[in-house]
Amino acid sequence: MTMDLDERARAILRGNDRGGYTVPTEGLYPFQWNWDSAFAAWGFATFDGPRAWTELETLCAGQWADGMVPHILFHRPDPGYFPGPDMWGSGTTPASSGITQPPVAATMARRVHELAPDRDRLAALWPKLRDWHRWFMAHRVRDGVACVTHPWESGRDNCPDWDVGLANVDGSGVAPYERRDTGHVDASMRPTEAEYDRYMALVEWGRASGWDHRAIVDEGPFLMADPGTHFILMRANADLAALGRTLGEDVSEIDGWAPGLRAGCDVIWNETLGAYDARDMRTGTFAGILGSGAMLAFLAGAGRPELEAHLDRVWDAVRYGIPSSDPEAQGFEPRRYWRGPAWPFLNALIAMGLDEARAERLRTDTAALIERGGFNEYFDPVDGTPCGGQHFTWTAAIWLTWAGRGGTA
Ligand code: SER
Repeated sequence: MTMDLDERARAILRGNDRGGYTVPTEGLYPFQWNWDSAFAAWGFATFDGPRAWTELETLCAGQWADGMVPHILFHRPDPGYFPGPDMWGSGTTPASSGITQPPVAATMARRVHELAPDRDRLAALWPKLRDWHRWFMAHRVRDGVACVTHPWESGRDNCPDWDVGLANVDGSGVAPYERRDTGHVDASMRPTEAEYDRYMALVEWGRASGWDHRAIVDEGPFLMADPGTHFILMRANADLAALGRTLGEDVSEIDGWAPGLRAGCDVIWNETLGAYDARDMRTGTFAGILGSGAMLAFLAGAGRPELEAHLDRVWDAVRYGIPSSDPEAQGFEPRRYWRGPAWPFLNALIAMGLDEARAERLRTDTAALIERGGFNEYFDPVDGTPCGGQHFTWTAAIWLTWAGRGGTA
């Protein structure tokens, strides 16, 4: 059984390989996605070290001159996806989106280097990752907290965290467009039309600014503190510094970022909720809902007893952890993308910071989802139904690195 799944997982990574980069899944996501790619590298590192390094190198080959590593790299055209390169108008080579995604790559590069050490390739990659982190600190950290300027930048597109910020985004005037995602996956598992209108309004605003990230952060229609990105950045900074030390680099600048980000955790602590919470930086309003982004606090060593109690509560309310949104809150939708489903790759990240017993419980849950349902994008946490795209790169990678490995991640 396990052997068979290992082989299937490797076949998915090979099958989604487009030559130097891996698509998240055929059809639904036909380009290179930033954080998907980082997990692909970790997966490849279990059986093809050189290919793992190539994945990270191809990702960084799309880095902008200012240091940003975009969330999508459009290496070649594909009419099956919207919004494509023309809608973003990045003017870069390769064409890309104009926003970024959670900087999990340094954490994954550290794992790759553990599994398939290559000092020369690490030495070439490291300054690029450092420049991206510098960009993050300069362009996305406000009041000590990592922010997102578009829900897509969080990677957790339609989680309820963004509702309060999106309420102030006018999606009524966007140019007519045709969604493609719902041609690949049932619409009931994807974001709504109203959300897409607002996503597109934000793309139009960014493109009109010439992707001026100072203007986007200072004056754009949407700026929210994101617990998920914040905790991933904290952890990734530590991993970047650790990698730098092995190379003999001066990492004092990176170490210097840590105290401010640690203090920033207080800015996203919602006392009423007793948990970390997304926050609209324009108005100061909290989202007021517990999401799986908050659970990444454990990854960053920023867990608190109240959060641990919440984790156990939301977990016990479903059959399979970790629901992406609070199953006891109004509006929980167990099959709609980030409004309820459990995501294997996110489970792996959360587990990296959990105590042994909880980490093992989470690994077992994740393994059961994959064994019963296959390598889907996400799963209904109540009954385990596989949802979203099939033959998914990061689900296969997580099987090979963690879920199918008896807790040795
Ligand atoms: N996840 C978004 C989409 O569904 C973009 O990153 O297209």
